[in-house]
Amino acid sequence: MPDFSQGDAPNPDRPHRRRPRYRGTHPRHFDERYKEHQAETYPEIVDAVRARGATLAGTHVPVLLAEVMAALAPAEGDRIADATLGYGGHAAEFLKHIGPTGWLFGFDVDAAQLGRTQQRLAASFANISVHRSHFAGIGKILAANSLDGYDIVLADLGVSSMQVDDPTRGFSYKHDGLLDMRMDMRRSRTAADWLALLSAEELAKALAELADEPDHARIAEAIVARRDRRPIRRTSELVELIFRAKGLTRRMWREQTGRDPHALHPAAKTFQVLRILVNDELESLKGLLRIAPTCLRAGGRIGIISFHSGEDRLVERAFRDGVEQGLYAACSDEPITPGPRERFDNPRSRSARFRWARRS
Ligand SMILES: C[S@@+](CC[C@H](N)C(=O)[O-])C[C@H]1O[C@@H](n2cnc3c(N)ncnc32)[C@H](O)[C@@H]1O
Repeated sequence: MPDFSQGDAPNPDRPHRRRPRYRGTHPRHFDERYKEHQAETYPEIVDAVRARGATLAGTHVPVLLAEVMAALAPAEGDRIADATLGYGGHAAEFLKHIGPTGWLFGFDVDAAQLGRTQQRLAASFANISVHRSHFAGIGKILAANSLDGYDIVLADLGVSSMQVDDPTRGFSYKHDGLLDMRMDMRRSRTAADWLALLSAEELAKALAELADEPDHARIAEAIVARRDRRPIRRTSELVELIFRAKGLTRRMWREQTGRDPHALHPAAKTFQVLRILVNDELESLKGLLRIAPTCLRAGGRIGIISFHSGEDRLVERAFRDGVEQGLYAACSDEPITPGPRERFDNPRSRSARFRWARRS
């Protein structure tokens, strides 16, 4: 009979489940971080993870939350399109403002989290309608419901932490996994397919133009030389190849991060470019910017958070042109970026740039 007198009595709120096996003293991999996946059962883990500037596995911290709310000013009864619903962080904040007469339409191409996000948001009083859809579909929902437009449209571009942290999605150079990177699993081409398909010239051009990768030619040549021997299928294979192409060893990289903990990972730009290609991100954004004015009511606001200078340039140009053409009454002069506190608390917010425009 076990002796529970020393405080080891079973806790009904924490039913005993065998924890996953992992090497070392702390779980490091996404699946092993069982306490983070059950944060309601282990609330103490939340502060511990946040204190080291990390994101709880399976969650996402919304960026520029206060700035987005201040600029888009959600009000009682508003009709809102969250074009990139993700974990629902921005959506949850919108719901607090729009009350029981407001409507939130949530869109995301990634089916993996939609159900859970919908469940979390459903606790609120407001009306919620969630769609597994590309954000190009925000207009179709208006037409299908005979609605004249949204008061607010928000698009928080890029990937969610749930997507990056899950090695099976292949987005991260930090975890080994198959090179997939599709946000929408209905897309036919994965990152591995793109690596097999593009010529050295096309790869070099994409790396130079989409990410200013200084070693674009060397990385492109290394990819082609390597795939001629055998296909590149895993994130770790690509990372290793990039290190070699850049003449870097793991030790040199460790020393560099010792001097500058925020140094950009050598594979970061190549991974970002592949993700943009796989998900056709720039063309998608251009489409959203084109249809946005027709989806907003008079005085309606649109906000876009981007994490890539090419995307930010597209947003800036579309909003400025829109003001000149009289489609928008006003737009932000400069991008709004996270302050030092947010960058410290959530390092993933560091490259975020937020711009807004108001329909005339
Ligand atoms: C940065 S996350 C959004 C996080 C969200 N604002 C929150 O607070 O939880 C971006 C999300 O947009 C989705 N996404 C990316 N491109 C999309 C597109 N073209 N149409 C719809 N959803 C898209 C991704 O699958 C991802 O879930």
